Amino acid sequence: MRTVSEKAFRALVRTLQNAASGELAAGYAYRGHWKSVRNVEERTRIRQIEDEEWHHRELVIGLLRTLGSKPRPLREAVFWTIGRILGAACQVSGWFFPMYGAGRLERRNIVEYEDAAHHALACGHPEMLDCMLEMAEVEWEHERYFRERVIGHPWTKVFRLWSEAPPKESIRAAFERAA
Ligand SMILES: [Fe+2]
Ligand SMILES: [Fe+2]
Repeated sequence: MRTVSEKAFRALVRTLQNAASGELAAGYAYRGHWKSVRNVEERTRIRQIEDEEWHHRELVIGLLRTLGSKPRPLREAVFWTIGRILGAACQVSGWFFPMYGAGRLERRNIVEYEDAAHHALACGHPEMLDCMLEMAEVEWEHERYFRERVIGHPWTKVFRLWSEAPPKESIRAAFERAA
């Protein structure tokens, strides 16, 4: 039993460290993204998404601190660079690719916070669940937003849409019995 819990604890820390660095990259990538978009509504929404990613990063670092841990410096450096490169690339890559790439990544972010919630439960941290599931729900909204932008775009005949996320309610429903 102890081994299972320790394994879950390590997985939780690792997942949160990955999420912290992912949010760092996302923050800078979205900063470049909204600056590259001309449509005012799109600029406003993507700027709001940037803010939400920074907020997630703060929350995740807070959770790590509670667990006696912090982000890994090398991973932080790599993802800082990735975020900066993606942000700069938005200026030259046109409208479609940043929207498409963001949607694909957001789909994975939902799962990342669901995974974190599973690990948290498994190692005796149910108090973290609400925060993690709320982040998963926000990532769900992000995924939906980018999906709606690119759906029907002619290039999706070549670059297939990623698999659609299950309904938003299912994120919390999966944990209601377990919590
Ligand atoms: Fe996020
Ligand atoms: Fe996101």
